[in-house]
Amino acid sequence: MKKLYIETLGCAMNVRDSEHMIAELNQKEPYELTEELSEADLIIINTCSVREKPVAKLFSEIGVFKKFKKPGAKIGVTGCTASHLGKDIIKRAPSVDFVLGARNVSKITEVVDKKHAVEIDTDFDESTYAFGEYRSNPFKAMVNISIGCDKSCTFCIVPATRGDEISIPSDLLVQEITKAVKTGAKEVMLLGQNVNNYGRRFGSSEEVCDFTQLLQKISKIEGLERIRFTSPHPLHMDDAFIQEFASNPKICKQIHVPLQSGSTALLKEMKRGYTKENFINRCEKIRSLCPEATISTDIIVGFPGESDEDFKDTMDVLEKVRFEQLFSFKYSPRPHTEAAEFKEQIDNTLSGQRLTKLQARHTEILDEIMDAQLEKIHTVYFDELKSNGRVSGRANDGKLVFIEGSEELLGQIVDVKIIKTSRGALDAVLT
Ligand code: 5AD
Ligand code: SF4
Repeated sequence: MKKLYIETLGCAMNVRDSEHMIAELNQKEPYELTEELSEADLIIINTCSVREKPVAKLFSEIGVFKKFKKPGAKIGVTGCTASHLGKDIIKRAPSVDFVLGARNVSKITEVVDKKHAVEIDTDFDESTYAFGEYRSNPFKAMVNISIGCDKSCTFCIVPATRGDEISIPSDLLVQEITKAVKTGAKEVMLLGQNVNNYGRRFGSSEEVCDFTQLLQKISKIEGLERIRFTSPHPLHMDDAFIQEFASNPKICKQIHVPLQSGSTALLKEMKRGYTKENFINRCEKIRSLCPEATISTDIIVGFPGESDEDFKDTMDVLEKVRFEQLFSFKYSPRPHTEAAEFKEQIDNTLSGQRLTKLQARHTEILDEIMDAQLEKIHTVYFDELKSNGRVSGRANDGKLVFIEGSEELLGQIVDVKIIKTSRGALDAVLT
């Protein structure tokens, strides 16, 4: 049997794209996954281009792969960097056999046999393509509900790599999730660049269904016990959506609300479509209707023109919302984006100082939140066997929980009591 080595960088959408590629390749001929590069017949790097660093790393990585791969093994570059660099990847690294964009995943079985094939069309509509089935975790399913992105945030390369937003028809989604439930998944993660913009445009039908209606439809699936989604956009968090989030018992109480900046002036420069006050108001609404919810966020520091005052606004939102999880980044100028052309690019040292300050304060908040979990009861879905006689899973609110145990706990949703806390995870015993 041929062996496949696949490295996945970036976001959950890329993780799902990798699963789709594995499934499609396997329908053509069986592949065994390997973590040993030198054994692989096919090497795929599923790339991310959201920041500059991983793009720079790509070419040194291709060099390493070329050196250690077995003779005749093929190298494919897929994902967002493939979309935005296209044939230049092969020009710069001729050892790459094919390039497949993030919007062209279904063509993996075509390009794999075509020397120097490049498929990167961002208008390609894959929204009704029936991908083969493969799940890296049998207990959970990831499902794309839309492809592409219709926003034009001035810092973000994604609209250029993944194209315009198209929603996948809700009946297809219900079918796909029902199938996953029948084969052991009790939890689904709905994926999209802006999930709560679902239904704005469908590829082929006259369908009318918004995200709140989709959540209601999906929660009717028998045997499905948990629904998660990522990422919603603060701009589309209307009251009906927050109400559904808070009151639907199948929806896990964890929500990602990407802030990017706390400064209304910078949010305008970023073309985010909301103000500092709108953002805080939406988080307050979530906390008031659903006090047990955890809120996570993404923040960029050092966006062009960011003043001390702007940064103070970001720190202020952190104090007010007290995000349970923070993903924070130094601004990185990207090709095909407006902000890369902005005059007032911020000095790297200053961005670094701001990032450190933001992360340090968030760590303090996180420690307080995690310490407060001691003795609490959480409902956890255990889905991973660890090596040291332990099993891990996620609490309803997304916290990582470990417990002593073995296979019999896998696939179980049980109440546990927290006996030890740390910054990243909780230790528990059965109640
Ligand atoms: N520079 C830094 N961070 C970025 N992100 C997106 N584009 C950039 C950029 N040019 C961050 C945003 C987004 C997350 C996935 O990556 O915070 O929400
Ligand atoms: Fe990276 Fe964004 Fe592409 Fe995901 S969509 S892989 S985060 S560039």
